Amino acid sequence: MRATITVLPGDGIGPEVTSKAVELLQRVASRYGHEFTFQEALMGGIAIDITGNPLPPETLRTAEQSDAILLGAVGGPKWSDPTSPVRPEQGLLGIRKHFDLFANLRPVKAYPALAQHTPLRRELLEGVDMLIVRELTGGIYFGPQQEQGDGDVAYDTEIYSVAEVERVANVAFRAAQRRRQKLTSVDKANVMASMRLWRRTVVGVHEDYTDVALDHILVDACTMYLMTRPASFDVIVASNIFGDILSDEASVLAGSLGMLPSASLGSGAFGLYEPVHGTAPDIAGQGKANPTGTMLSAAMLLRYSLGLEAEAAAVENAVEQTLASGARTADIAPRGGSYVSTDEFAQTVLASV
Ligand code: NAD
Ligand code: IPM
Ligand code: MN
Repeated sequence: MRATITVLPGDGIGPEVTSKAVELLQRVASRYGHEFTFQEALMGGIAIDITGNPLPPETLRTAEQSDAILLGAVGGPKWSDPTSPVRPEQGLLGIRKHFDLFANLRPVKAYPALAQHTPLRRELLEGVDMLIVRELTGGIYFGPQQEQGDGDVAYDTEIYSVAEVERVANVAFRAAQRRRQKLTSVDKANVMASMRLWRRTVVGVHEDYTDVALDHILVDACTMYLMTRPASFDVIVASNIFGDILSDEASVLAGSLGMLPSASLGSGAFGLYEPVHGTAPDIAGQGKANPTGTMLSAAMLLRYSLGLEAEAAAVENAVEQTLASGARTADIAPRGGSYVSTDEFAQTVLASV
């Protein structure tokens, strides 16, 4: 098949990891007889530096003409002045909103090969395989906020409508049907009005999915259960901010934040694919970044936007084989143990596809 993919490398380790995912997709294309065209565009800090705008209109035009977007990460100390009205992260929120990508799928697996690398006991990690479905275009990220703190008060507003909760709940219930038929809805209904609406809406949507077992957990307790009984979770559905926080926490189960991929989807096949991690300014430019999260995001791109299930599975298998072979980037290497560079690790994955 032919497909056009917009690549937004972004800042920090973004370009280091997206370049490896592009090589991987090129390898898949030649191995399986596809033709992928890549078009690079600016977003984030680099876009501010060059154009003054974290999400230039030209980038949106490029992305609109493609089948999917592959993104690294945006932001960093250079653009973190709290008084600046222009920030790299505005580009990311803007592109998610522009394409109405309301459902962010963040799968989390514990890899047996990395069990000893996590701070948890091996037996707790057995069977850990969950999908966090994060609402991505609503909630406190997009409610009214006081933009410039020229006084003593600033605010952000959490707002959810029934329609917004219904559509992401439907995605989560459908995913649970294809998995182990269990959905956990995370909220803070004991305190927040928006979260009481969240809970009653999820309960209503459940009527269409009686084959799925639904439970509700308050977010504070959920952070604890993720560490004490992680294997009990199948699909989790959470608001924009809670899903953001819980997925970074859950990355501990996978061995590193650098391992987690994500897919941001709307109502059609078009999607944006990015690792869960950020620009990792502490290791940028040193060849230390783990490209796995971005390479697995490319697998999700193949699956969800291009419908290439066999190719997606081949990439996922190649990652598992690479880990089983003992290859490690710095973040997943045993303390004091040896590790390979971003590029060497990626070449091992490529060779297994
Ligand atoms: P971060 O995710 O960039 O880094 C947190 C820690 O994880 C760091 O120690 C880092 O070295 C490590 N890490 C992250 N990815 C890694 C990888 N692939 N391989 C090895 N180690 C990895 O979070 P942060 O430091 O809080 O944020 C830095 C910047 O990134 C901020 O400007 C933030 O806004 C931005 N950010 C962007 C995105 C995105 O574009 N999607 C996501 C999160 C954070
Ligand atoms: C993520 C990031 C972003 C978010 C930031 C950088 C805007 O943390 O994609 O997880 O909070 O959504
Ligand atoms: Mn995050």
